[in-house]
Amino acid sequence: MDAIIMLLPGDGIGPEVVAEARKVLAAVAERYGHTFAFHEGLMGGCAIDAAGAALPEETLAGCLAADAVLLGAVGGPQWSDPKAPVRPEQGLLQLRAAMGVYANLRPVRVLDALVDASPLRPERVRGVDVMIVRELTGGLYFGRPQGRETVNGERAAVDTLRYRESEIRRVVRVGFELARGRRGKVTSVDKANVLASSRLWREVTHEVAADYPDVVCEDVLVDACAMYLINRPADFDVIVTENMFGDILSDEASMITGSLGMLPSASLGDAPVDNGQGLAVGSQRSKTRPGLYEPIHGSAPDIAGRGIANPLATILSAAMLLRSSLGLAEEAAAVEAAVERVLADGCRTADIARPGEGAIGTVEMGERVAEVVSKQ
Ligand code: IPM
Ligand code: MG
Repeated sequence: MDAIIMLLPGDGIGPEVVAEARKVLAAVAERYGHTFAFHEGLMGGCAIDAAGAALPEETLAGCLAADAVLLGAVGGPQWSDPKAPVRPEQGLLQLRAAMGVYANLRPVRVLDALVDASPLRPERVRGVDVMIVRELTGGLYFGRPQGRETVNGERAAVDTLRYRESEIRRVVRVGFELARGRRGKVTSVDKANVLASSRLWREVTHEVAADYPDVVCEDVLVDACAMYLINRPADFDVIVTENMFGDILSDEASMITGSLGMLPSASLGDAPVDNGQGLAVGSQRSKTRPGLYEPIHGSAPDIAGRGIANPLATILSAAMLLRSSLGLAEEAAAVEAAVERVLADGCRTADIARPGEGAIGTVEMGERVAEVVSKQ
């Protein structure tokens, strides 16, 4: 197939890890006879420096015209002044909204080769395989009003947690669909004992659950969920939750694996509907599903430019891109198998190496994976 893949290397270690994922995608194209055109754009701090905006129009246009977008990371201390008029993270939020990618999938899998990297006891983490589905374009991040105000001469600020039922229904459905192909269990996480938006979330979730009698559905309060993720992580299959709850729980869950540098993510919208007169407005270039793929780690400014960052989270994100946006399941599985192969062979970047164990750099890790893909 022919596909346009938009790369947004971003800030910090972003460019280093995206370069390796690109090599792996190029190896896939060559091995399986596809043509991938890579376009690049600026987003985040680098875009603020170069163009004065976190998401320049040109970048957004490139993303909307592409079949899929692969992002490194954005942000860094030089752009984090809370009083700055524009912040790198705003670019990411604008992009998520503009692409309509409302379902953020964050798989948390503990690979056998890396059980020892977890701060939790091996018997607790072995076999953990959780899919967090975080609502990504609504909730507390996007509700209005949002901002500063003055109340009786005092500084005040407001954020709003608002959901429409359609926004809840579509993301919860994604969770149930995924559960069907997995272990058949959905945990819906909310704060229904306090928040009105959570009570609506729960109501709508139960309506959706009625369409999936084959899937077990449970409701768990977000504070309790934070606790269960530590003391019985293996019990979870699919977790589906509000935007900010998902932001927090996914960072927590990533620590179960102990290797933040390993975790990919996919943010998906709806596949375009063919209305018989070409594709529906707002859809991307072709019939591919809008998708934004990124490692869940940040820009790690402390190690940027040193060639030691772990590129595997970005490479695994590229695998999700192949599967979910381009429909290339076999190729995606080949990339995932290649990652497991190099880990089984003992390749480790510094973040996942045990004390005393030798570590390889970003480029070598990327090249090892690409090589295994080429030879499979
Ligand atoms: C994430 C990040 C972002 C978020 C930031 C960078 C805006 O923490 O993707 O989890 O909060 O969504
Ligand atoms: Mg986060």
